[in-house]
Order: sequence, then structure tokens, then C-alpha cells
Amino acid sequence: MSSSQTSLPRSLLVVGSGGREHALVRALVASPAAPRVICAPGNAGIAEEVTCFPIAADDVPGLVALVQREQIAFVVVGPEVPLSLGLADRLRELNIPVYGPGADGARLEASKIFTKQILLKHRIPTAPAAFFSAIEPAITYLRTRSLPIVVKADGLAAGKGVVVAQSLEEAEAAVREMLAGEKFGAAGRQLLIEDCLFGEETSILVVVSGHDYVILPTSQDHKRIGDGDTGPNTGGMGTYSPAEVVTPELLARIDQEIVRPSVHAIAAEGIAFCGTLFIGIMLTPAGPSVIEYNTRFGDPETQVVLPRLATDLLALLWAAACGRLPAVGPLAVKPGYAVCVVIAARGYPDAYAKGDIITLPAPDALPPATTIYHAGTAKNAAGQLVTNGGRVLGVTALAPTLRAAAERAYAACDQVRCATKYFRRDIAARQLTRS
Ligand code: AMP
Ligand code: GLY
Repeated sequence: MSSSQTSLPRSLLVVGSGGREHALVRALVASPAAPRVICAPGNAGIAEEVTCFPIAADDVPGLVALVQREQIAFVVVGPEVPLSLGLADRLRELNIPVYGPGADGARLEASKIFTKQILLKHRIPTAPAAFFSAIEPAITYLRTRSLPIVVKADGLAAGKGVVVAQSLEEAEAAVREMLAGEKFGAAGRQLLIEDCLFGEETSILVVVSGHDYVILPTSQDHKRIGDGDTGPNTGGMGTYSPAEVVTPELLARIDQEIVRPSVHAIAAEGIAFCGTLFIGIMLTPAGPSVIEYNTRFGDPETQVVLPRLATDLLALLWAAACGRLPAVGPLAVKPGYAVCVVIAARGYPDAYAKGDIITLPAPDALPPATTIYHAGTAKNAAGQLVTNGGRVLGVTALAPTLRAAAERAYAACDQVRCATKYFRRDIAARQLTRS
């Protein structure tokens, strides 16, 4: 063991309950440092691997108390809500190292207007936009722009606060719903109207520690609920990695024009950012353009990115938290491809049922190199595995080719039995068609 490994923390808390957190827990448990890992609140799958504590991800005092009681040496925060509530700030005040930004950094995700202002000020490529808190000026502005046009609630809306409107009527309805309606609550009190960008999207996940950063393997999400990118936006229905549309030349351009300027802009704004900066990028004919920042790992991007990492995740995140990121050196990435297919509850992203019984294949019946990450799962009173959220499972497969990875993931999806299961049939199809 190197000296940096010997100094790795021995006890960790992972905060969250989704497929992303299951993938984080798996990767951290596998560290050569063999840390003790706990999770809050976790889900039924995570509970099979580590001890879970029933403390909600937005219960900041409860989580801080858990960390103190369990003498946790390092906290890795999955979702955005505890970050925007200041969980990382509270822990740092207590000298407890944490991977995840403070509330100031989390604002880069929690307020799209705040982020757009930083992007425009620092001349980072992004779509032109205007900000509104009243209906009439917003509608007047809409009429001056061309279609399609994008209407976005300012605040956190779990990926559902964005409408790409094809008609003026649709755009006006979105404006009225966000500014006058109840659907978005405080998140919709202000909105942005943004020009539509055209192209393919890619998710660039960056481990950031102040001015230092490391770009993780590329991936592509499938945000719409339906095959062929149809229907409403979701949190993400499936991913693959690497996203080969991001060639090495294009990645170098993204680094130079977007990643490096973003990291420096955030630092220049006085934000000491430690955590994942997840940059949603549209690859337009004119070049890469920022759609959004998130300030956490992506879900389900994490479920394809982490299984491809050969570098110890614990060493990487710990180095970021300790301000020693350059000591990690270049990332080691496994050859081959990863595909994750999300199994959702039918009805998601609108209303869906909970409590449906899930029967999983035995681990030794799964295709090779295939993992079922749990997201919205729980145990019912009878101890049966049941659905407990919109996105229920994430089935990730690794393989030497993208096609084989997709075939493995889909074979496993077909083995999962659940009356209300729904999944897209075309995850990774775009890259498969291209190659
Ligand atoms: P966001 O929550 O900002 O990531 O937006 C959710 C999704 O809406 C993105 O992943 C895109 O598919 C779409 N979207 C957001 N902004 C734009 C834009 N300016 N042009 C086209 N599509 C967009
Ligand atoms: N998969 C998109 C997100 O995590 O926001």
C-alpha cells in the first residue's frame, strides 16, 4: 500500500437512496482500503450490502447526528437536495471531510438563473436566455423568439421543470403553469426562457477540488420516457459509456472551452467547490454548449461510469476532499463498454403505483458482468421486495462491445419480474446505429 492509501478513511457514510447511491456504495466497498460503509436512507438493495439508517436525505440535523454517533470519517453525498440544504457546510464546520459542495456550490444546480448568469458573465458557451418572474413580460418576450423555445423553472424540479415547446401556445402554457400554478412551488417562482439548442447531448462528470479537476469517462443519458426520445423528460431512463460521439479531439475542446473555464469561473465567484460538477452539454453544429450544471453525480450516469473506473473511487474522492487531487494522477479506465437500462414503474414520470412485488433473477442466473442496482425499492411487511419509487432498478452490463453490453443488460431486464415494469428498448441504439 502507498502512503496515500494507508491514510484513507476507515468509515464512510453515503447519503441517498437511488441507483446512483447503490453504485457509489458498491464502488466504495470495493476499495482496497476496505472501509466500513453505511448508508442513509438507502434502499432494499443497498441494505443487502451495508447497514442502512432510516434518516431521510433531506434531514440535515439527523444526518449530522448519525455521522457523529457512528464516528464517520468521510461523507459522500449523492443527491442535490441535502447539498442545497447545507449538509456539506454543517459537516465541514465540524471538521468532518465530505465529498460534495456547500450550499453556495449547490446553487449552481438549484438555480438555473444563477448558473446562466455565471455562464454568460464568464463567456462559457450556452444558449441565450432571459429571466422572468411575471407572466406578461415573459409572454411578450416569447413572441420575439423563434420556435422551438425552452421554458425552465429556476429551481430544483427533479428533471421535470423544463419544457421544450414546439408552439407558442405550449410555451405560454408552460409559462403560466410555472409562474401561476402550484406544480413547481417555489422552484417555479422565476423562470428562464432559453433558445433551443440542437444536437446530441452528453454528460460530462468532473471531480472538482477548487482549481483542480479530473474528467470522468463520458456517457450519454436518455432523458425522455419513450423509445426514440419521445414523451416527457424524466430523471434519466438509461445510459451508456463511453459516448463515442465525444471523440478525443472533441473532449479536448470541451475541456478547453467548457470544463476548465467552468471550474475557474466557479472559483472566481468565490465558491470553494469540492464535489462532482456534472455538465450537461449539447453538441451543436457550432460547438459544445452548456445546457446545465448539476453539482452531484448523475443518475443513471454513475451506474455506467463507476463500473468502468479502475482507479480506486475512495482514493479519488478522498483526494478531492483533502485538496490533493493532482496526487491521484491520470484515471485508469477499464476497456470496453457499459450500458445501464432503467426499469421504471409504469406511469412514471407522472403518477405510478408503489408496492408491486419484484422478483429478481438469482445473481448466478444473470448474464456475465451484469449488476442490478436498486433505486426505488423497499421490503413490504412480509419481507418481499417491492417497488417504492418511479425509477425502480438500473441494470448495468459491461462487455467488450457496446452491442454485447446492451444485449446483456436487456437479457437481465427480461429476467426481472414485476407487473408494472417499464423500460425503454432503445438504450444505446443511437451509438449502435452509428457504428
Ligand atoms: P435541464 O434540466 O436543464 O438539464 O433540462 C432537461 C433537458 O431539457 C435537457 O437534458 C435537454 O434535453 C432539454 N433542454 C434543456 N435546455 C435545452 C435547450 N436550451 N435546448 C434544447 N434542449 C434543452
Ligand atoms: N441523469 C441526469 C441527472 O442525473 O440529472
